Amino acid sequence: MRIGLLTGGGDAPGLNAVIRAVVKAAASRGVETIGIEDGFAGLIEPGRWRPLTLRDLPGILRRGGTILGTTNRRNPLAYPAPGGGVVDRSASCVKTFHDLGLDALVVIGGDGTLAIAHEFHQRGMPLVAVPKTIDNDIVETACTFGFDTAVGVATDAIDRLHTTAEAHHRIMVVEVMGRYTGWIALHAGIAGGADAILIPEIPYRLESVSQLIAARERFGARFSIVVAAEGARLVGGTATVQQAGSAAAAERLGGIGGRLAMDLEAATGKEARCVQLGHLQRGGPPTSADRLLATRFGARAMELVTDHQWGAMVALQGEVIVPVPLAAVTGRIRTVPTDSDLVRTARAVGIGFGD
Ligand code: F6P
Repeated sequence: MRIGLLTGGGDAPGLNAVIRAVVKAAASRGVETIGIEDGFAGLIEPGRWRPLTLRDLPGILRRGGTILGTTNRRNPLAYPAPGGGVVDRSASCVKTFHDLGLDALVVIGGDGTLAIAHEFHQRGMPLVAVPKTIDNDIVETACTFGFDTAVGVATDAIDRLHTTAEAHHRIMVVEVMGRYTGWIALHAGIAGGADAILIPEIPYRLESVSQLIAARERFGARFSIVVAAEGARLVGGTATVQQAGSAAAAERLGGIGGRLAMDLEAATGKEARCVQLGHLQRGGPPTSADRLLATRFGARAMELVTDHQWGAMVALQGEVIVPVPLAAVTGRIRTVPTDSDLVRTARAVGIGFGD
């Protein structure tokens, strides 16, 4: 048996741990693995694949990024055309799949890549999927690898910003990733002891955040830390977009932190600064929790291949890794429930959401 393996979408710490687990589990079953480079683009562009063997694996468990490369700009169903616009290159993918003599494909990716995988599955391609994203916004799985690492980076940043905020009696706004969900902001905000956490699921009012800062001032805390998810928005407003989306690429969020720092400075009269953590949250080695989850996902994905459970995605439910149909996952995102235990915990320790 021969399988193809690809990583698509934005990278997340732990991708290499999945690759390692799949190649090891495949090799132990006598299955050959072909690594496809840069996601589905490697099934379209010539010569963008290579055999993956046990010799490729030493050292990659602890390495961030992906040894196969990835992209969130080359969707085969809406592939950038040379003269502008997009074309459907899915037929090229199917042809390369057969030309390479592949019996199955293991697709590791986030919501966009999973939707593409679902489409290919519906067209008859035998594949299984592994969810990945630092945003933790994939439905049907309690967690995705990369999230724990991102939360660790953000928490460390909040810790560091506390001391300088306190020294200068400033407001520090920390903008974190997460697209349309506030998971990173919520986890890192609670772990780092933020004073306010602004997330897309709970639109905020500027007055409410400034009142919270003024109240802290009154009891002698002359600094405040505000964690803003990149998708956070004012009541009645929309997320701050850096670059509009197109048929070929999703919109790029970001910039809310800078805007919020200016607004808070004007509203409170206190100096405010913003730190946009950006891709730092995706870089560097995965935490042990992410390595473990990624390894479990990879090993289980190979079991699904062996069992011919095509169209399934591995997911963490309770304590176990289970298969769920891609059809149940695509087109949905896992948002923070506004009445969740986490939100209630944050409120209980005095963290404001600006609502
Ligand atoms: O989905 C992961 C993510 O890091 C988001 O949190 C962020 O909005 C986006 O990717 C950034 O994408 P890019 O790497 O294209 O800037």
